Amino acid sequence: MTDLEHSLSIQQIQADLHTEILGRELLCYPSVDSTNLRAKDAANSGARSGLCIVADTQTAGRGRLGRSFLSPCGNGVYMSVLLRLPLDSERTPQITAATAVGVARAIERTTCGSVGIKWVNDLYMRGKKVCGILTEANLNPQNSWAVIGIGVNLSDAEIPPQIADIAGGIVPRSATPPTREKLIAEILNQIEPLLLPTVSDAFLPEYRSRSVVLGKEVSVIRNQQTHCHGRAIAIDDSARLIVTLDDGRQIALHSDEISCKIE
Ligand code: BTN
Repeated sequence: MTDLEHSLSIQQIQADLHTEILGRELLCYPSVDSTNLRAKDAANSGARSGLCIVADTQTAGRGRLGRSFLSPCGNGVYMSVLLRLPLDSERTPQITAATAVGVARAIERTTCGSVGIKWVNDLYMRGKKVCGILTEANLNPQNSWAVIGIGVNLSDAEIPPQIADIAGGIVPRSATPPTREKLIAEILNQIEPLLLPTVSDAFLPEYRSRSVVLGKEVSVIRNQQTHCHGRAIAIDDSARLIVTLDDGRQIALHSDEISCKIE
């Protein structure tokens, strides 16, 4: 494939966009270090709420907990959206969770599959992670903003071998994925009403019903080690995961990582 075939078309994204604010300002790059880093720079330079930055590939894609996010050209959507809204530390997980619901809806509208959510920020299809979300926020009340980064793998056929055990695409090898432009537009269409004018609790029932974690045995991972173990019993109204530990105590997880078996 040539570089031109990989290039995202702003016009095609706009053709399917029905939002009022999200993606009305849209920047497409062939390659960036990280769309989240570009969006944070833009936020610090006064960019408006709704700015969306997309890239064909990222050379330093960022994941949660300091991990990297592999971002090969042609088989992924890598996008970041800037939101200016009143924020506190309680609300950041809600933004991630509401976005997960919107992206799940967008994937289901553009493919034949169904999407589950692994608390707090991972979307799963056919037992594999197909999308990760990284929200980074500035909580300064004079200038609060959130950058929501979304990375989606398109096809099973192009998943790099080093992550193929755990990562998949939104379509299997035999199917044709939606165009990246269509998926980007649909993601923006779906997440806007869940995030603006502010995150409400309305997404929570769907977030809970899509959970692939509730009722399961989970390990809480801290510093890359199992910290404790128990059963995930609920997701509260702040999108925290409530876990009953093996010793009977109950804990509420805010932004930890968990591991569990996902079929
Ligand atoms: C995770 O799975 O831990 C979150 C991954 C988030 C990846 C997306 S890709 C677009 C945006 N830019 C980044 O550098 N990261 C996010």
